[in-house]
Amino acid sequence: MALLLKNARVIDPQVELDTVCDVLVRDGRIVEVGQDLAMEKGETVDLTGKVLVPGLVDMHVHLREPGYEQKEDIASGTRAAAHGGFTAVCAMPNTAPVIDNAVGVEYVKARAAQVGKCRVIVSGACTKGLEGEILAEMGDMHAHGVKAFTDDGHGVQDAGMMRRVMEYASQFDCVVMPHCQDDSLVGEGQVNEGTCSTRLGMFGWPAEGEELEIMRDIALCRLTGCPLHIQHITTARGLQLVRDAKAEGLPVTCEVTPHHLFLTEDDIDDTYPTALKVNPPLRTAADARALIEGVADGTVDAIVTDHAPHTDWEKDREFELAPFGMIGLETALSLVLTNLVKPGVIDYGRMVDLMAVRPRAILREEPVRLEAGSIADLTVIDPDAAWTVARADFLSKAGNSGFIGAELVGRATEVYVGGYATLKDGVIVE
Ligand code: DOR
Ligand code: ZN
Repeated sequence: MALLLKNARVIDPQVELDTVCDVLVRDGRIVEVGQDLAMEKGETVDLTGKVLVPGLVDMHVHLREPGYEQKEDIASGTRAAAHGGFTAVCAMPNTAPVIDNAVGVEYVKARAAQVGKCRVIVSGACTKGLEGEILAEMGDMHAHGVKAFTDDGHGVQDAGMMRRVMEYASQFDCVVMPHCQDDSLVGEGQVNEGTCSTRLGMFGWPAEGEELEIMRDIALCRLTGCPLHIQHITTARGLQLVRDAKAEGLPVTCEVTPHHLFLTEDDIDDTYPTALKVNPPLRTAADARALIEGVADGTVDAIVTDHAPHTDWEKDREFELAPFGMIGLETALSLVLTNLVKPGVIDYGRMVDLMAVRPRAILREEPVRLEAGSIADLTVIDPDAAWTVARADFLSKAGNSGFIGAELVGRATEVYVGGYATLKDGVIVE
């Protein structure tokens, strides 16, 4: 099958490309990138006015299957991903049962192959049941294709256990991705500790509850040599720890979410909006500014959604009773385009770096480059499409977005996975 994508602005910093040209795809791979390409038989798509980039990867997504299909499943979650412009997601293991052995890994892979609308990269738990007590079957999971380990949703409380996890992972050159949370400091914390927790009269989730584990895990990275990727970093000091670790030459990377970049604790008003209850919590405006600086200066490696779907009945409760998390797959790209690319905080090349290049590198996935020979995982963006975020447009089962009503500019219109269209004109290809 051949596919000729014509007249897009083709951008890929990996091959120093930013020019209007054509991309020819055959049998799932790019065969040529250049001017005035022609083809004998196949489909031609005119992409005049659009931007074509390497397929986007969201390396932090909760697909909820198996076990919590009332919130999301692999079919709905991967449709939401394609709708948001993603060609691949990395699924978190905090399902029921937890993905802590090879059977669970094979289940997610098989369901993704049957019903997925994007590639699903499976991450495995560090400890059995995410309980922090017994090592998960890391070697077996690795033999079944897992290259990243995380107890996301929980911090590994015991430093000795975390050391063992990292020693195991480093044998396979796999990355360990901690959700940094010291339970003895966080306890029942609901929102950022300080002005916000005082104003709302709720237990605080202090910045130090995150920063101490970042500090510890960087020390364990130094001790074990294991690649370390800090999940959803939220504070200025936490980011500085990562900046210093990188300067020291340690294999440390980190990610941020759009909600920690573009929302703050000040947005949690006396309507107690449970969509804004996330873990780690929304922090101060100064923290958000520091994260944006980190995105611009290269300290932040990846923008991820932490797409965390929940049902309405779970979220329509008192703030303390509602679960943590917000969805993000269908708004992330547009938020980044609107708030970072349009105002010139970053350029398209850096966006590609954050949302496609570095996530693949961290997860040890084959790179996708806009040059002959590469896998044809591609995202096409209409940079001028203006739209308002509305729940009715989501393909996710869930509606717990903190951005409903936001007016955004730019969105994915076409997505190709291995040369096959999963999204055309903004509509899922079934
Ligand atoms: O807000 C969050 N929700 N943070 C996490 O770490 C876990 C996630 C979930 O699974 O709902
Ligand atoms: Zn997490």
